[in-house]
Amino acid sequence: MLFEKMEEMIPAFFKPWTRYLILVFIIYLIFKKYGASHIQPWFLSTVYTPLCAIHHKSIKELQRKHFEQMKDHKSSDPELRKKGILRILEIGPGPGYNFEFYPPKSQLSVVEVNPFFEEEFFKKQVDHPHIKMDRFIVGFAENMKDVPDNSVDVVVSSCVLCSVRSVEGALKEVHRVLVPGGKYYYWEHIRDFEYGWVRFLQHLFTYTYHDLVFGCSLNRVSDRIIETNKCGFTQIDQKLIKTPLNKGFHSLYVCIASVVLGIATK
Ligand SMILES: C[S@@+](CC[C@H](N)C(=O)[O-])C[C@H]1O[C@@H](n2cnc3c(N)ncnc32)[C@H](O)[C@@H]1O
Repeated sequence: MLFEKMEEMIPAFFKPWTRYLILVFIIYLIFKKYGASHIQPWFLSTVYTPLCAIHHKSIKELQRKHFEQMKDHKSSDPELRKKGILRILEIGPGPGYNFEFYPPKSQLSVVEVNPFFEEEFFKKQVDHPHIKMDRFIVGFAENMKDVPDNSVDVVVSSCVLCSVRSVEGALKEVHRVLVPGGKYYYWEHIRDFEYGWVRFLQHLFTYTYHDLVFGCSLNRVSDRIIETNKCGFTQIDQKLIKTPLNKGFHSLYVCIASVVLGIATK
């Protein structure tokens, strides 16, 4: 009876899923409330890959265009430069969607807070033999104590600053680990810069989405925080774009359609 009433109030494209979604969500909230601290990272790692697959497909070529500039960058280490090796550190790689954008002979380390992504990440690595995997570090981007100062040529993040506890803290660490002249490539969704109604939705969803489900803030102004340049990058080139939208359920990605992409140089 309750479910039927609720279904009448919900747009048609949700209907077949409504009761199952509500049930799963209630069970999830109960687990989360009563001390199952691993349930949120496990849930994120389980649903992220299938849920974001269509979105990733629609932004792939835009991301490729941005990240492929990496191939022109050379390592600051003379020995590695001779061999054409580039030291890359990715923060928050999740299941490893960015493997395909890395140049041949990349030497990749990652710092990922959610250990449940590790299995999926290494499964994907098999399809990208041109990348030499260095380290998978489970930890926070805001405190990369296992990564020495001035030790990587390129740092990469995509859709991560929305989730870190402190954007300023993560940027400070990115700056610390980069060699002088090293580049930080970023692709981050931000507070919508076009429509007030989208910003309203972003604020509305941020509590549910951030605290209860994905640990992601839809309404962050990472673009403005990067621009303030508190950690002292020598150059920041960034631009704002809108990513293409899909229909139906996937139109909800309107909340992550405003993106800042850029390259900051140490
Ligand atoms: C929205 S997912 C993006 C994953 C991937 N970069 C992509 O583009 O598909 C956010 C990722 O950042 C990770 N993450 C969140 N907070 C983090 C932190 N403080 N330090 C490192 N990784 C973090 C999450 O575990 C997750 O893998």
